[in-house]
Amino acid sequence: MELDNILEGIDLNNTPPVEEPLRQYYFLKKIKNIIRQKEEEKGRSLTMKVVTFGCQMNARDSEKLTGILLSAGFLEADTEEADFVIYNTCTVRDHANQHVYGRLGILNGLKKKNPDMIIALCGCMMQEQSAIDKIRKSYRFVDLIFGTHNIYKLAELLAGVYEGHGMLIDIWKDTEAIVEDLPSFRKYPFKSGINIMYGCNNFCSYCIVPYVRGRERSREPEDILHEIERDASEGVKEVMLLGQNVNSYGKTLQQQISFSELLQRVEQINGIERIRFMTSHPKDLSDELIRVMSKSDKICRHLHLPLQSGSTKILEQMNRKYSKESYLALAEKIRAEIPDIAISTDIIVGFPGETPEDIDETIDVVQKVKFENAFTFLYSKRTGTPAAAMLNQVPEHERKENFERLLGAVPSSAGSGAPCSCRRRK
Ligand code: SAH
Ligand code: SF4
Ligand code: F3S
Repeated sequence: MELDNILEGIDLNNTPPVEEPLRQYYFLKKIKNIIRQKEEEKGRSLTMKVVTFGCQMNARDSEKLTGILLSAGFLEADTEEADFVIYNTCTVRDHANQHVYGRLGILNGLKKKNPDMIIALCGCMMQEQSAIDKIRKSYRFVDLIFGTHNIYKLAELLAGVYEGHGMLIDIWKDTEAIVEDLPSFRKYPFKSGINIMYGCNNFCSYCIVPYVRGRERSREPEDILHEIERDASEGVKEVMLLGQNVNSYGKTLQQQISFSELLQRVEQINGIERIRFMTSHPKDLSDELIRVMSKSDKICRHLHLPLQSGSTKILEQMNRKYSKESYLALAEKIRAEIPDIAISTDIIVGFPGETPEDIDETIDVVQKVKFENAFTFLYSKRTGTPAAAMLNQVPEHERKENFERLLGAVPSSAGSGAPCSCRRRK
């Protein structure tokens, strides 16, 4: 209803407004009209499918994309046999990229059957020039490409596709902007993911995320609380606060606020019964957070605390800013204060220079901390990261041997024993 009121007040004979989010509402009205016209021509509804790769940050972005598309008049399809298909991509490991290229081949076949079909790509992989070059060259049937910083512009971009000819590409290197208050869709009625910050400033030497998601930006606490209050009024009982490093929440705001302070304010919201969050970087996890968690009835007794490696030498090379000993001490402190806590982790095997002795150190930490769940990844070389330029890359067969040995020691990530297992990995 509220949306209809906003759209009714917009005159498409005027030039598009400059300020956001009003500008996007203008284009939303525009594509709504286009879609209605196409429906009349075809004598049927237009359908769309949003396909998400990668982490919970991307899953949340996909809800925003879905919200805009549903508001524009599309119906959601069960499969990619739809009039508009968008892949929200991930590039954290090479495997994620290859998966997208493989699926694009299938989309090409579908487009041959439905030439009016629009194919769009967005998300982390699109922030890499090499991916854009490859798509321009070998996947000419793609209609629209945009990145991580301008997903809120979907309506405007789609209007551009409908009006233009050929592939439309809009990639921003970085942004300061956080555009709020656009339509969004919630996948589950009782739980929701809430972005509390965007980007990452940590530059772990193997990781592409800071390059494709930009610098760390925290949302204003009032905006976060307002969103959660609205969700709670619609029946949401559980929230997952999302950020690449939630423990540094608030540091970029003018009026500084810590993550534990934010948690305490979220706890006060009526109707919210369970609060989860991810991810916690061990270097920034405060005593205050442990205290707040230990006293809370609403915050789930689960911490995802990525270890990455148990070898202090490798951790230094990874730029993680903690040592094996300080990680172990932190885990011990958390268990002492919150005895029923479930700790899960991420581990990378095969980082440059890693030896079987380094793996022994990792296995030692795994055995000492007794993780409820561990997600183990084979190191993937990401172009542009410092680790990719290191000369001591580990040969593939050695990486795989070490990986198998570690797998024998860790609890399975598939069959989760964690009471609060809330991770989705692809
Ligand atoms: N901000 C989160 C991580 C997001 S990426 C954090 O710091 O925990 C999720 C996981 O992917 C990381 O924890 C890491 O274990 C893994 N990962 C990131 N880059 C990788 C790479 N180049 N190769 C293999 N695994 C990687
Ligand atoms: Fe990547 Fe490190 Fe940032 Fe996590 S904290 S997103 S691993 S750079
Ligand atoms: Fe992948 Fe981007 Fe998330 S690279 S892991 S989707 S932040």
